[in-house]
Amino acid sequence: MTRLICVSSGKGGVGKTTTTANIGAALSQFGADTVVLDANLTNPNLGFHIGIPLYPKTLHDVLKGDAHITEAMYIHDSGLRVVPAGLSVEDLRDTSPDNLADVLLDTVGEPDFVLVDSAAGLGNESINAIEASDELLVVTNPNLPAVTDALKTVNVAEEAGTKIMGVVLNMVKGHDSELDTSEVESMIGYEVVAEIPHHEKVEEALSMKKPVVHHEPDHHVSERFKGAAADMAGFEYEPDLTEPGLFEQLLGRFR
Ligand SMILES: Nc1ncnc2c1ncn2[C@@H]1O[C@H](COP(=O)(O)OP(=O)(O)O)[C@@H](O)[C@H]1O
Ligand SMILES: [Mg+2]
Repeated sequence: MTRLICVSSGKGGVGKTTTTANIGAALSQFGADTVVLDANLTNPNLGFHIGIPLYPKTLHDVLKGDAHITEAMYIHDSGLRVVPAGLSVEDLRDTSPDNLADVLLDTVGEPDFVLVDSAAGLGNESINAIEASDELLVVTNPNLPAVTDALKTVNVAEEAGTKIMGVVLNMVKGHDSELDTSEVESMIGYEVVAEIPHHEKVEEALSMKKPVVHHEPDHHVSERFKGAAADMAGFEYEPDLTEPGLFEQLLGRFR
C-alpha cells in the first residue's frame, strides 16, 4: 500500500526540502519504490535538491488539468521518481492547489512511498498538502520559534485527521542554547524520529544539485537520513554514525 507522507514545518528554511530529497533518495536506495513531489507551488526547489533537468511537464500542468501525474514524473538515474513544480510566474498565476488531493490520489497504488514537499506556513498550499496526505512528517530546528510553528502544523494535521509520523529535528549544532530532543518532544507531543546535525556537507551537496545521501553516501549526516528512512520502511539497517577524527577531516580537505 502506498504511504502518502507530507513533509511540512510551519517555519521556512528549516529543511523540509532537504529532508524530502534525502529520505526519498534513501528509501529508493533501500529498494522502496518512491516518488517525491514538489507541492511548494510558490517557491518550488525540490528539483535543485535532487538534480533533474528542466522538465516539460510539471505539477502545475497536472493541477491545471493539462497533464496526467505520470507525465510529470521524472525518473532520476538513481531510480527515485520526482514530480517537479513549474518555475515560471505564469505557472503560479493560473494554478490553485485545491485539487492537490485528487492529483495525489492518482499517485496511490504502485509506489511504496509518496513524499510531498510542502510550502512553509499555514496558507492554502500547505494546508491542502497536509489534508491530502495520510501522514505528516514535521520538520523543525531546535529553537523556540521553529518548534512553536511546528506545533501549529501538527495541530492542523490533527484536525485534518492526518496521522503524525514524527518529528525530524534538523540542523542540530549541539549548542547549549538549543532545545534538546526531550524538550522538543514534550512541546510538540510526538517523537523525534530523526536528529540531523547541521553540517556544511548538506550545503555542499545542494550546490552540486544532489541530496547528501547521493553526494557522500557514507557521511554520518547521510547515515542519519538512511537510518530514518530504514525505520520508516521497516528495514533492518544499522547506521554508522561515527564522525571522522581531526586527522581524517584534515585529510578530507586535501583530497
Ligand atoms: N542539516 C543541515 N545542515 C546544513 N545545512 C542545511 C541542513 N538542512 C538544510 N540545510 C540548508 O538550509 C537551507 C534551507 O533548507 P531547505 O531544505 O530548502 O528548507 P525548507 O524546505 O524548509 O525551506 C538550504 O540551503 C539547505 O541546504
Ligand atoms: Mg522547501
